[in-house]
Amino acid sequence: MTALPETFAQALRELGLAGAGPLSGEPLVGGVSSDIWRVDAESGPLCVKRALPTLRVAALWQAPIERNRFEARWMQVAAEAVPGCAARVLGQHPQLGVLAMEYLPQHALWKQQLRDGDADLDTARAVGRALGRIHAYSAARPALAADFASQAIFFDIRLEPYLLATAAAHPDLAPQLRALVQATQAQAKALVHGDVSPKNILVDAHRPVFLDAECAVWGDPAFDLAFCLNHLLLKCLWTPPAAPGFLACFDALATAYRAEVDWELVDDAERRAARLLPGLLLARVDGKSPVEYLVDEAPRRTVRRAARALLTQPVDRLNDVALAWRREIAA
Ligand SMILES: Nc1ncnc2c1ncn2[C@@H]1O[C@H](COP(=O)(O)OP(=O)(O)O)[C@@H](O)[C@H]1O
Ligand SMILES: [Mg+2]
Repeated sequence: MTALPETFAQALRELGLAGAGPLSGEPLVGGVSSDIWRVDAESGPLCVKRALPTLRVAALWQAPIERNRFEARWMQVAAEAVPGCAARVLGQHPQLGVLAMEYLPQHALWKQQLRDGDADLDTARAVGRALGRIHAYSAARPALAADFASQAIFFDIRLEPYLLATAAAHPDLAPQLRALVQATQAQAKALVHGDVSPKNILVDAHRPVFLDAECAVWGDPAFDLAFCLNHLLLKCLWTPPAAPGFLACFDALATAYRAEVDWELVDDAERRAARLLPGLLLARVDGKSPVEYLVDEAPRRTVRRAARALLTQPVDRLNDVALAWRREIAA
C-alpha cells in the first residue's frame, strides 16, 4: 500500500468519493499518457486516472489535460450503447483532469492474447460489433457532437503524429497522407474513441471492455475501424505463426462491424477505412508512435512496401487490404 498522490486525493475528496479514512492504493501499469491508480476506498476499490500534460514518448508530445473529460464522457456514452463495454464512471474532476471509475477485474488485455498467438474469432467479432454499435448509437444522437468538440486535440494527438509525421518521413507520399487527414476531418458523423488498440481492450469472456478513450472526438467512425484493424495486420509480424488466425480475426471484426453500420452506406464507411489503413500502417513504423515490437529492419520494410503500394493504388474493400497484406508478408 502506498499513499495516494495528492492530486488524486484532492480530486476524490472534491468529488465526494473519498470517505473519511486515509486513502491508499497502488499504481497500475499505465501507458504513456496518464497516471493511473487503484485506490482502496472504504466502499471498495476504485480506479483513478489523471491525464499528463506531456506524454511519455520519445518524441516530445504535449496534450491538454482536458482530454480526461472527453474520456469520461466517451465511457458514459459507450456504456449506454453497449452495456458493460466500458468501466462505469464515478466522477470526473475537470480542473484537476482526474477521472474516477469502477475498478475492473484484471482480465487479460487483448494485446497479451494476440502476442501469445491466441487469435480468437469470437473476441474479434465482439470487438467489431461493439464498436459498430457505439458508432451507430452515437450517430443517431447528433446532439452528442457538442460534448465532443475535441477536434483540435484529435488533430494534435492522432492526425498529426500519425499521418502528418509520416508524411514528413515520406515526402513522396505526403499528398496521399495529407488527403487522408482532410478526408477524416471532413466526416463529422459519430463518436470516435480514437485509440482502439488491443492494448486498450480488456477481454472478459470474449467480450471487449474498452479503456483509454482520451482521444475521443466527434468525427469519422472509419478511423476507429481502421485503427483497430491495423493492429491485427501488424500482429502478423509480431507473432508470425498466428498470421492466418489474425487475418481471420481481421475479417471477422470487419464483417461484424459492417453489420452495425446504419448511419451511412456501409460501403462508404468501409472505403474510408480501407483508404486510411495503409496510412496508419506506415505511421506505426515511421510516425511519432512506432509500435515497440517491430525492431528489425525486415518487418519494417514489409510494412513500408505494403503501405506504399496501397497508398499509391488505393483499394475500396477491407478484404483487398488484407489480401495485399497477405501477399506482402508471404513474400
Ligand atoms: N477501470 C479500470 N480498472 C482496472 N484497471 C484498469 C482500469 N482502467 C485501466 N486499467 C489498467 O490500467 C492500464 C492503463 O490504463 P489506460 O486507460 O490504458 O491508461 P494509459 O492512458 O496510461 O494507457 C490498463 O492497461 C489496465 O490494465
Ligand atoms: Mg492505454
